[in-house]
Amino acid sequence: MVKICCIGAGYVGGPTMAMIALKCPEIEVVVVDISVSRINAWNSDRLPIFEPGLDDVVKACRARNLFFSSDVEKHVADADIVFVSVNTPTKTRGLGAGKAADLTYWESAARMIADVSKSDKIVVEKSTVPVKTAEAIEKILTHNNKGIHFQILSNPEFLAEGTAMEDLMRPDRVLIGGRETPEGQKAVSALAAVYAHWVPQDRIITMNLWSAELSKLAANAFLAQRISSVNAMSALCETTGADVAEVAYAVGKDSRIGSRFLNSSVGFGGSCFQKDILNLVYICECNGLTEVAHYWKQVVHINDYQKSRFVNRVVSSMFNTVAGKKIAILGFAFKKDTGDTRETAAIDVCHGLLGDKAQLSIYDPQVTEDQIRRDLAMNKFDWDHPQHLVPSSPTASKQVNVVWDAYEATRNAHGICIMTEWDEFKGLDYGRIYENMVKPAFVFDGRNVVNVEEMRKIGFIVYSVGKPL
Ligand code: NAD
Ligand code: UGA
Repeated sequence: MVKICCIGAGYVGGPTMAMIALKCPEIEVVVVDISVSRINAWNSDRLPIFEPGLDDVVKACRARNLFFSSDVEKHVADADIVFVSVNTPTKTRGLGAGKAADLTYWESAARMIADVSKSDKIVVEKSTVPVKTAEAIEKILTHNNKGIHFQILSNPEFLAEGTAMEDLMRPDRVLIGGRETPEGQKAVSALAAVYAHWVPQDRIITMNLWSAELSKLAANAFLAQRISSVNAMSALCETTGADVAEVAYAVGKDSRIGSRFLNSSVGFGGSCFQKDILNLVYICECNGLTEVAHYWKQVVHINDYQKSRFVNRVVSSMFNTVAGKKIAILGFAFKKDTGDTRETAAIDVCHGLLGDKAQLSIYDPQVTEDQIRRDLAMNKFDWDHPQHLVPSSPTASKQVNVVWDAYEATRNAHGICIMTEWDEFKGLDYGRIYENMVKPAFVFDGRNVVNVEEMRKIGFIVYSVGKPL
């Protein structure tokens, strides 16, 4: 019986291992983490992350062949395959600050694996890492030369939050990169055999280690680039009277381009797109590829531009000041169907409005008040000027109110900013909302959620990203 251990019980480690446990009942899967509170939550009825369908899978497998533990060393020592799915954030200090991936967590996990191992293991890079990381990991794993053999594989994860279980159940592809030696290929086959329990053979793609590592960064860069491309078009649509949804539809009908991932928005968020592109930019710079670095950097620049353009639109439309005005923020998560707020566009928009002295009333169906306050209290890291932290507004906490209902958030508000495309925002009774707002009542739709014509009929002044004004 194969034993799997996954280091890191986060958004990737938890759901990915739950799916392996579900599909491979004969394999024992243990997810370990240094965060005891996270492990306790995984063992409770209230899982630490919200992801549609996850609860059912965890309930079906937990205590059968899926376990969550903070006894990291024991379970790593026992495992045949060790996935490493720890966080790899952007470095905020030192060499490469603001761009390079911070591999501190990865390195400490690798050192621990080397120290506690008493048998040969396959070590799988599940975290997104810079190309060539496997080479460094290999050095760390073999540093104490105990005669134990490690094979390192790259098996990047492509799930998106909010659809993680569906993405894991029916992945477009599973990528496995390994050394081109007989031992390396044996390890690749062993991991491929795990996925073969439910993923069709033609979707399990094997390649060399460096291609697999780089493919993950490339895929995220391409995806984010589509959003920045359509968002750049949205700015042009607003000034020319074109409608970005119609333009995206027409463009996406070209089968070479495809229709998905062309929704214009207030800007992409999430823990990965910006981090992974900056990481790519850094790798290009380190390899002397200045032009290539510059090209990818623009994807992040356009995203920042889109967020500040949105704030400017709100303030300028509301007679150039929002000081003392109540503004409802509908949605705070970086996308619908998740409670994750990492790098959410809502943080930057709220900061912009707070800087103009607005009073914010924030509602999100999945994000807690604590989380929202923590996010808004944090100094913002400026990736372009890593030596300067942008301090949060000292009065921010007094200017923010977090409520548990969209109607409450919008009562007596001058304006509404829609930051997340939660389905419930489509079905709100906007007539009722309009009645309870200060007039003129503004709606700034950062997600193209509302029907602009209908909202205008109700009486709202509506601004929707990329739509004719
Ligand atoms: P996360 O922060 O949710 O989880 C990481 C976990 O690792 C944390 O719980 C942390 O306590 C734990 N950890 C850190 N160091 C540890 C150590 N030495 N020993 C044991 N536990 C340790 O992160 P995440 O969102 O799951 O992302 C993990 C990786 O996967 C990142 O590299 C990310 O880029 C990549 N990724 C994320 C997504 C996503 O949707 N979130 C999708 C694909 C890939
Ligand atoms: C993204 C990728 O889609 C995953 O394949 C990848 O595994 C993951 O990053 C990762 O490496 O972390 P995720 O960030 O969870 O997944 O969610 P996405 O659906 O990609 O959305 C990212 C951001 O882009 C969200 O803020 C979303 O609202 C925004 N977006 C997405 C748009 O503005 N327009 C679109 O058309 C699509």
